Amino acid sequence: MTLVLGIESSCDETAVAVVDGDRRIVAQRIASQDEEHAPFGGVVPEIAARAHAERLAPMIEAVLGDADVALGDLDGIAATAGPGLIGGVMVGLVSAKALAMASNVPLIAVNHLEGHALSPRLADGELNFPYALLLVSGGHCQILRVDGVGGYRRLATTIDDALGEAFDKTAKILGLGFPGGPAVERAAKEGDAKAVPLPRPMVGSGEPHFSFAGLKSAVLRAHESGKYKSEDIAASFQQAAIDCVVDRLRIALAEMQDCETLVVAGGVAANASVRAALEELAEKHGMRFTAPPPKLCTDNAAMIAWAGIERLGLPDFAGDPLDISARPRWPLDAGAEPVRGAGVKA
Ligand SMILES: Nc1ncnc2c1ncn2[C@@H]1O[C@H](COP(=O)(O)OP(=O)(O)OP(=O)(O)O)[C@@H](O)[C@H]1O
Ligand SMILES: [Mg+2]
Repeated sequence: MTLVLGIESSCDETAVAVVDGDRRIVAQRIASQDEEHAPFGGVVPEIAARAHAERLAPMIEAVLGDADVALGDLDGIAATAGPGLIGGVMVGLVSAKALAMASNVPLIAVNHLEGHALSPRLADGELNFPYALLLVSGGHCQILRVDGVGGYRRLATTIDDALGEAFDKTAKILGLGFPGGPAVERAAKEGDAKAVPLPRPMVGSGEPHFSFAGLKSAVLRAHESGKYKSEDIAASFQQAAIDCVVDRLRIALAEMQDCETLVVAGGVAANASVRAALEELAEKHGMRFTAPPPKLCTDNAAMIAWAGIERLGLPDFAGDPLDISARPRWPLDAGAEPVRGAGVKA
């Protein structure tokens, strides 16, 4: 049975997990840094890197203990090697390299986005390739066709903000606290989604790309007008975002008619209203819908270990070289054309 240790440290969660080839999460721990970053209303890279450095080694020891596994029992040590905040990524990757070297176990340098993209297969053993994937997280908003491990074609991306970022900024504007996504979702439950007129950027455009900067500005203007309750703004924002996502996916799905399943992954996939809207869309297209449980949507190490297991299953892969570098940027589809206005988000 394949057994892989996973390490995640690309943003503000320090996470370690042991996962086996039967999709069993043998052990996992996550330390969130919410308290450290809350006073700043967002993640401070230097604080994040230091917190990862303090927590990671004892956490690895604890998870191996929980799993009752010795380093030598492992088939691979997988760590996020990018994209992400480079200080944190380096902490995790260097730790994995040291353990791999000391125990003579293969190193697997995982693309964090590949971790998100394959996480639905950890949760759902029936999910086969190819599938249509909406990847919506704090840093990314993409529609991808997933043909296999390593086979990702990007059909759409955002020309400005990611969807998770829009949730976080909305929370900040409304003073709902940090982290923003779950706070907006909670407030939205108490509000009227029709109360505030907000734009649906890109809706109707022939290409399936996203834009959320204008929606964010409209949220700010609505808030500053003093005319609306925060709960109504949160609910109206969430509905506008969902309308955009559903419209953009409708365009992209026309190009992926051979995909039987619509899949959502990444932190925003934890949102129950987003999941419900996608389930409805899938049904209309005669597709199956699947999403990982919310805890596997936001950053975690089980998905990194799982991506390691998936890569170890490839015929020509026996591990990455120990001199592989951490990467602040690392697109899943290296061949995707830059999109006008995409700037750093492509
Ligand atoms: N219930 C929710 N509703 C909406 N958004 C949510 C919810 N839970 C989390 N999010 C959003 O998900 C994002 C975090 O997701 P994730 O941890 O995958 O992102 P990241 O790792 O920071 O970015 P990336 O994966 O692109 O590098 C945040 O922007 C957060 O607000
Ligand atoms: Mg992430």
